[in-house]
Amino acid sequence: MTEKPTFYITTPIYYPSDKLHIGHAYTTVAADAMTRYKRQRGYDAYFLTGTDEHGLKIQQRAAEAGQPPQEFVDGIVAGIKQLWQLLNIDYSDFIRTTESRHEQVVQRLFQKIYDQGDIYKSEYSGWYCMPCETFFTEHQLAEGHVCPDCGRPVQLAQEESYFFKMSKYADQWLKFIEDNPDFIQPDTRRNEMINFVKQGLEDLCVSRTTFDWGIKVPFDSKHVVYVWFDALVNYISALGVDSDDDSKYQKYWPADVHLMAKDIIRFHSIIWPIILMAAGLPLPKKVVAHGWLLMQDGKMSKSKGNVVDPVVLAEKYGVDAIRFFLLREMAYGMDANYSEEALVNCINIDLANDYGNLLSRTTAMIEKFLGGEVAPGSEGTEFDAVLWELAAQTPANMAKYMDKLDIANAIAEIWKLVGKANKYIDDTAPWALNKNGETEKLKTVMYNLAEVLRQVTILISPVMPNVAAKVWQQLGLDAATAGQDWEALAWGGFPAGTKIQRGEALFPRIDWEKQLAEENEGAAEESAAAEEPMAEIAPIKPEISIEDFERIDLRVCQVVACEKVKKADKLLQLTVKLGNEERTVVSGIAQYYQPDELVGRQVVLVANLKPAKLRGIESRGMILAASDGDKLQVLQVPAEILPGSIVR
Ligand code: ME8
Ligand code: MG
Repeated sequence: MTEKPTFYITTPIYYPSDKLHIGHAYTTVAADAMTRYKRQRGYDAYFLTGTDEHGLKIQQRAAEAGQPPQEFVDGIVAGIKQLWQLLNIDYSDFIRTTESRHEQVVQRLFQKIYDQGDIYKSEYSGWYCMPCETFFTEHQLAEGHVCPDCGRPVQLAQEESYFFKMSKYADQWLKFIEDNPDFIQPDTRRNEMINFVKQGLEDLCVSRTTFDWGIKVPFDSKHVVYVWFDALVNYISALGVDSDDDSKYQKYWPADVHLMAKDIIRFHSIIWPIILMAAGLPLPKKVVAHGWLLMQDGKMSKSKGNVVDPVVLAEKYGVDAIRFFLLREMAYGMDANYSEEALVNCINIDLANDYGNLLSRTTAMIEKFLGGEVAPGSEGTEFDAVLWELAAQTPANMAKYMDKLDIANAIAEIWKLVGKANKYIDDTAPWALNKNGETEKLKTVMYNLAEVLRQVTILISPVMPNVAAKVWQQLGLDAATAGQDWEALAWGGFPAGTKIQRGEALFPRIDWEKQLAEENEGAAEESAAAEEPMAEIAPIKPEISIEDFERIDLRVCQVVACEKVKKADKLLQLTVKLGNEERTVVSGIAQYYQPDELVGRQVVLVANLKPAKLRGIESRGMILAASDGDKLQVLQVPAEILPGSIVR
C-alpha cells in the first residue's frame, strides 16, 4: 500500500475573549476549503484550529464577567466550536492552550531553551500593548506613543523577566529566508519581514510576573510564559510532539502552511521559526498572510464594535453562500471591503445568475426537449471543442492558484468555465435545435452541459460543501459520488441514460432593495400602509378583441448588457437576447435601476413594436414594467422559462 502524501494546515488559535466575527471566519473557511481540496486530490490533509486562552487580556475579561478564567473561556470556546460547526468547518483537531497536552510541551520547550542558555533572566522595561499582547521598544511606538499595530494606548511595564535570545538567530533566519524564498507569502510580506530583521532583532521578553493566568515557567513559578511563546507552540503540541504518542507529529510536521491575516505575520514568520531553530526542530514550509476584511470604518475587530456576526449571516443567506462570498471576495494578500450589499450582489450575480441559472436552464431544457434523459447524441456542434478544451484545462488552471492559497483566483478559473457553459447555451441555441428536429446535436449539447455542471460542482465543492449534494440530486446522479475526488473529473463521467430531476433554484435571487425596505421599516410600515387610502387607479381603456391582443408579440428575453445612456438621466440602454438574436432596447427606467442590477434578469419585451430612435439610439421593442406613480418594477420571468418564449 502506498502512503498518501500529507498536508498540514493551521489557522491561528483565536482569543476566546469575545465572539468571533466574519473576519475570523475568513481564515477558518479558507483553511477548511484548502483541506477539502487537498483531500479531493488524494492527500491525507490535517487541519488544526483552536483557541489561545491565556494572558492578561483574558484574565481581565473573566474578571469583568465575574467568572474564574477557566470557566469563562470554557463558555466562549463552546460557542466558537458551534460556530465552526455551523460554517461546516471540518477541522481535524481543536487545540486549547489550557489543555495539559499543550502546557506540558510549552514547559518542556521553555526548559530546554533555558538549559541551553538561550533564555536568560533580566530586567524588562518597555511598552506593552494589552489588546495585542505585545511589547514594544520606545522607538517602535507609533506617533502619539501608541501601539504601532492597533493604535491603542500602551503601558509602561517594568519587571523582572526572562528573555529569549532572538538576536543570536538573526543571521541564521536571514540565511533561511534567502534559501527559502517562498517561505513567507505574499512577497510584499516577506520583504517587510526581511527589513524588520535587518534593522536589528532584539531579544524577546518571554515571561511575566504581574499576572498569573498563564503557563508557569517550570523553574521559576512566579513567572508565567509570555502568551505568544505559549500560543505558537500549539502547532506542534497538538500533534503530540515529545509525548508518548508522537505519531501525528512524525507524520504531519513540518506544517505545509500556517495561514493567518497580516496582523500576526511577524510572530509566525520570525518569532516562531526562531523558537523552532533554537529547539532544533524543523521549520514549517510556508507562512501565508491574507488581508483584512474591512468594514466601512477600518479593520473588522471585536474592540471596534463593527463586528458582523457570522451566525446571523449564515442563517439569513445560507452557509455555502457565505463561504463562497468570503473566498471569492478576498483577493490574494489584499484587504477586502465587507458589506451586506456586496454579499447579496455576489449571491445574485455569481451564484444565482451564473451557476444557479446554468443548472436551471440545463435541467429545464433536458426535461422539456429530451424527456429528462441525458445521453450524448451521435452528432456534435462546432462549439463543442472549445467547451471541452476549457473544461479540460480548468482543473490545472485552478490548481495553480489553489496551491498557493490564492482561492479567489482559483474560483475565478472555475467561473470562467461556468461562463463558457452559459455562452455555449446561447451559441448552440438548443431551442432552435429542438425546433429543427436536430435531435442528435441537441442530445450532445445537453450532455455537454450536464457534464460541465458535474465538473464545476466537483471543483467548487471544497468551497461550498453542501452544494454538490443538491446539484447531484437535480442531475439525477448517485448521491454517493457527490463532490468526488479529482479522478472523477475525466470528461464523460456523466453516466449516459441518467434521468434528471429538476428541483428548486439553487440560489434564489435576493431583492436587496426590498429586503432593506422590509428590514428598515418592518412592521411599522406595514401597519401604516394598511391605513393608506387605495391609490386612485387610471380608467380602464376601451375594450379590444383577442385578435387585437394577438397582434402584440410579447417575448421573454434575457438582459445581457445594460448601460446608462449618456446625457439622459432617465434612459438605460439594454442589450437583450431572445434565442440567437440580440437587440438594443432603450428604456426609461434609469431612475429605478442601476445598470448591472438588470444584467442576467429575464424580462418581457414587446417584440414587434415599431423601432424608434431615442437620443440617436435605435430601440427595437419595449420592456414591460409596472408603476404605481412613484415606484417602478420591471416585470420578471423566472429562469426556468427559456428566453424567446411567448408571453400571452
Ligand atoms: O491574534 N479580517 O487571535 P485573534 C481577516 N490568538 N482576518 C481576520 C480579521 C479580519 N478583520 N480579524 C481576525 C490572535 N482575523 C492570536 C493568534 S496564533 C499562534 C495566535 C483572523 O483572535 C486572522 O486570521 O486576534 C487573524 O490573524 C486572526 O483572526 C487573529 O485572531
Ligand atoms: Mg487580533
